[in-house]
Amino acid sequence: MTTDTTGTAARDGEPRRGGPADSPFVRACRREPGPHTPVWFMRQAGRSLPEYREIRANVPMLESCRRPELVTEITLQPVRRHGVDAAILFSDIVVPVAAAGIDLDIVPGTGPVVAEPVRTAADVERINPIGRDDVSYVDEAVRLLVAELGDTPLIGFAGAPFTLASYLVEGGPSRTHAKTKALMYGDPELWHALCARLAEVTLAFLRVQVDAGVSAVQLFDSWAGALSEADYRRYVLPHSAHVLAGLAGAGVPRIHFGVGTAELLGAMGEAGADVVGVDWRTPLDVATRRIGPDKAVQGNLDPAVLLAPWPVVEAAVRRILDEGRAAPGHVFNLGHGVLPETDPEVLTRVVALVHELSARPAA
Ligand code: CP3
Repeated sequence: MTTDTTGTAARDGEPRRGGPADSPFVRACRREPGPHTPVWFMRQAGRSLPEYREIRANVPMLESCRRPELVTEITLQPVRRHGVDAAILFSDIVVPVAAAGIDLDIVPGTGPVVAEPVRTAADVERINPIGRDDVSYVDEAVRLLVAELGDTPLIGFAGAPFTLASYLVEGGPSRTHAKTKALMYGDPELWHALCARLAEVTLAFLRVQVDAGVSAVQLFDSWAGALSEADYRRYVLPHSAHVLAGLAGAGVPRIHFGVGTAELLGAMGEAGADVVGVDWRTPLDVATRRIGPDKAVQGNLDPAVLLAPWPVVEAAVRRILDEGRAAPGHVFNLGHGVLPETDPEVLTRVVALVHELSARPAA
């Protein structure tokens, strides 16, 4: 059930005035005008912040995701430091998969590593459904954060079935996704069974976050760009659409993001997104033509540009804001996550620049 005690929009009514549902970020997601173009950064929590490295010293990644006070502090760090328009919950896409019973770890410098890769029907059976009690630490962290954040919206997130399946089938990160595709093409029935299970886990994980008060959700299908549009539509879209449709009545915008998805942007919008995330390869005006007029876009500064001298960064920010004006709503972001070597000062300057260049007089 959706309540209106969270600052999110009521199911049928107008968004409540004030609070995160009326923030520049949520307004842009809804394609409503706001005081400025909102900005946040994928992977803003952690990565480049010294205060993050300090607090995470000696706490393994998965364990830190299960400590609500630590999650709260890490999530707030980039909001305090940069003045971004939204917080993103500190967690990981494999957290719900671990809660579903899969033995895995997040190895520093590598990413998720699965003890026994999932390749048979019996393996798929090992992925259990999850509910709030299995991820109570996430419920608790979101509630703590919503109370701390006031008018600043909190973004919840989860991994989409394809990206999660890739980690589970490969057993870890993969450049080619060869084993994943071998299963997908070689045993479509098993593939669909795997993705259907993962879609239920993902949907349950997002519902816990929505019920606890997040103001938007982002579905990360980071590796979907490995597929052709035809294969994406056949093997992946129905499962991601199931997740997004399951949240259609939740009253929070749904962002759908992947990397290298120039050919998939239309399909990723059709899957049921309110906002489509775009990487740096596709200019936002071109992306908008592919996605259509009824969705906002998010992106799309190349994270590597942040390593260049400031005039280069500034020119890129200006260009992206210009290209974003073609869209019915624009949330400024990177085209993928913050690189660990990024100078945090540059992120702070980008936030100020986006706000300054996009400021609109009060309506
Ligand atoms: O955006 C945020 O700031 C919120 C936190 C967040 C993390 N992971 C924390 C994290 C989010 C949104 C994610 C999502 C995630 N995790 C994705 C989708 C986004 C993307 O980048 O495409 C993916 C594919 C993963 C899987 C994963 N987990 C990878 C590839 C890695 C990086 C491995 C490494 O060390 O380079 C992780 C680990 C991870 N997730 C870290 C953090 C802060 C680093 C762990 C550490 O500090 O020890």
